[in-house]
Amino acid sequence: VNRVPLIAGNWKMNLDHLQSIAFVQKLAWSLKDARHDFNAVEVAVFPPFTDLRSVQTLVSADKLPIVYGAQDVSEHASGAFTGEIAAPFLAKLDCSYVIIGHSERRTLHGESDENVAAKTKAAIASGVVPLICVGETADDLEKHGASAVPVAQLAAVLDSIPKGSDFVVAYEPVWAIGSGQAATPEQAEQVCAALRSTISEQLGEEAAAATRILYGGSVKADNIAGFMRQPNIDGALVGGASLDVEGFSAIARYQ
Ligand code: G3H
Repeated sequence: VNRVPLIAGNWKMNLDHLQSIAFVQKLAWSLKDARHDFNAVEVAVFPPFTDLRSVQTLVSADKLPIVYGAQDVSEHASGAFTGEIAAPFLAKLDCSYVIIGHSERRTLHGESDENVAAKTKAAIASGVVPLICVGETADDLEKHGASAVPVAQLAAVLDSIPKGSDFVVAYEPVWAIGSGQAATPEQAEQVCAALRSTISEQLGEEAAAATRILYGGSVKADNIAGFMRQPNIDGALVGGASLDVEGFSAIARYQ
């Protein structure tokens, strides 16, 4: 199976409205100038909710080859959930992806594996591909090793995924996020391989072979190549380094 690598930029709560639009335009120019093959490596950005409409307008008007998604989604399809954003709304904005269960949501907003599973289900039901984040804390790493927690977090979600659905997994060790201390490619590969085996056990070999597994946590232009050389790593979820056009463009080109 040929898994198209995905380089995803999670802007978190950064870049205000005007910056977002200029960013997407400049990123497209930078990649086109570098003759980036968008069919060979998919490039996605995840702006705040408030910018999705503008990004949609720009991408469709200028036919930009960049895809985009949201950073979170409600478990519910509609109703009295003040402040929440439903998956069908994201689908209407042509979001290709939605990040679910980012460690900042799990830690700062108390999201459980059950919430992550419900959100995943909601996204798939609306045709938005979930990008499911898993990862261990420094404490977990010390107590249980690297794979146990991410594998358990993923196992808890896989039951909610109907056979044949497209989904993406991002392995993000919490200790590597924003710390400047990335996992080594070998460490990350080991966990990503364990995650792929978990998919194989629960959803079958075909799903395991088709599913893209990304690494995230202090990915930069100067360390991306090492991750992309690993057989079970199919891309990156980039935070801080996705906020600089030339830096992110270099990551997308693995340079
Ligand atoms: O979603 C992205 C991750 O949290 C990684 O963030 O690249 O700033 O370490 P970072």
